[in-house]
Amino acid sequence: MKALTKIIIVGAGQMGSAIALGLRRADQNTSIVAIDPDAIRRTLISNRGITATETLPNPITSEFLILATTPQDLSRLLKKSPQIRQYSGIIISVLAGISISELANRLNCSQLFRAMPNLPCIENEGVTILTAAPSTTQNNDRKVKNLLSKLGLLISIKDEGLMDGATALVGGGPAYFSFFASAIYEYAISAGFDKESSSSITTKIMSGTSTLIKLNQEHPMKLCEKVMTPGGTTQQAIEIFEKNKIKKIIIKGLKKACAHSAKLGRSL
Ligand SMILES: NC(=O)c1ccc[n+]([C@@H]2O[C@H](COP(=O)([O-])OP(=O)(O)OC[C@H]3O[C@@H](n4cnc5c(N)ncnc54)[C@H](OP(=O)(O)O)[C@@H]3O)[C@@H](O)[C@H]2O)c1
Repeated sequence: MKALTKIIIVGAGQMGSAIALGLRRADQNTSIVAIDPDAIRRTLISNRGITATETLPNPITSEFLILATTPQDLSRLLKKSPQIRQYSGIIISVLAGISISELANRLNCSQLFRAMPNLPCIENEGVTILTAAPSTTQNNDRKVKNLLSKLGLLISIKDEGLMDGATALVGGGPAYFSFFASAIYEYAISAGFDKESSSSITTKIMSGTSTLIKLNQEHPMKLCEKVMTPGGTTQQAIEIFEKNKIKKIIIKGLKKACAHSAKLGRSL
C-alpha cells in the first residue's frame, strides 16, 4: 500500500483552504492538517473533511509544510512557532512578494520552494508557478512538482524574477476575469434577464470562449475579430472599449499589482 503523504498547511484562509481541498480531492491518500488561529475558519475547513488545529505541532514531522498566511503574518508566525526553524522537510511558500533568499534567512531551511497558485486550485483547475531554492535536491523537486501538479496546470520557472509578474497574473487572474464577468452579469440583469439566467449565461460565455481560444491556438484577439461582423452590433461595443483604452488600463492594473508584489517583499 502507498504510504500516506503528510502535509501541514499554515493558514486556512482563501488560498490555504483551496490548496487543502484541491489536494484532498486529487488524492485521498493524503493526510492534511490545516493550522489557523481563527476558530471559524477551522470549523469551516473541518466541516469539509480537513483536520484543523490552532497551533503547529512541535516538532513538525510532516513531509511538506505549506505556508499560506499573508506575507505580513510571517514574522508573527515565526515568533509563535519557532519550531519551524528546526523543521528539516520541504517548505512551500505561497506568500506574495517574499523572495527565496528572504525565506531561507528567516526559515533556516534549504528545501525551500516558492509557488504562486490561484483559487481554482480548489477544483484542480488552478495555475501554479513554481520556483525552487538552488539548494533543493532533485528528489524533492520531483516530489513538489508531483504534489502541486495535482492542483491544475503547473509551470516551473528558473528565473525567480518572474514571480512578481506571476503574482499579478496568476494569483490575481481569477479576480480580473470575475471583474469582467460581473460587468456582463450586471448588464444581463439590466437587460431584463433573471438572476439565474444572467449567471448561467455569463459562466457559459466564459467557459465557451475559453474552449475556443484554447482550440484555435491563436492570439485571443483573433476570436474577438471573428465575432465582430463588420458594421455589426459587437463592433459597436468593442469600439467603446477601444476608445476608452480598456486593454491599456487592464495592463496598467497588472503592472501595478506586480510592482506591489515586489514592494511587499522589500517592506518586511
Ligand atoms: N487569495 C488568493 O487568491 C491568493 C492567490 C495566490 C497567493 N495567495 C497568497 O496566499 C496567502 C494567503 O492569502 P489569503 O488570501 O488566503 O489570505 P487570508 O484569507 O487572510 O488567509 C490567511 C490565513 O492565515 C491565518 N494566519 C495568520 N497568522 C497565522 C499563524 N501564525 N498560524 C496559522 N495561520 C495564521 C489567518 O488567520 P487570521 O485571519 O486570524 O489572522 C488567515 O486565516 C498570501 O500570502 C497571498 O499572497 C493568495
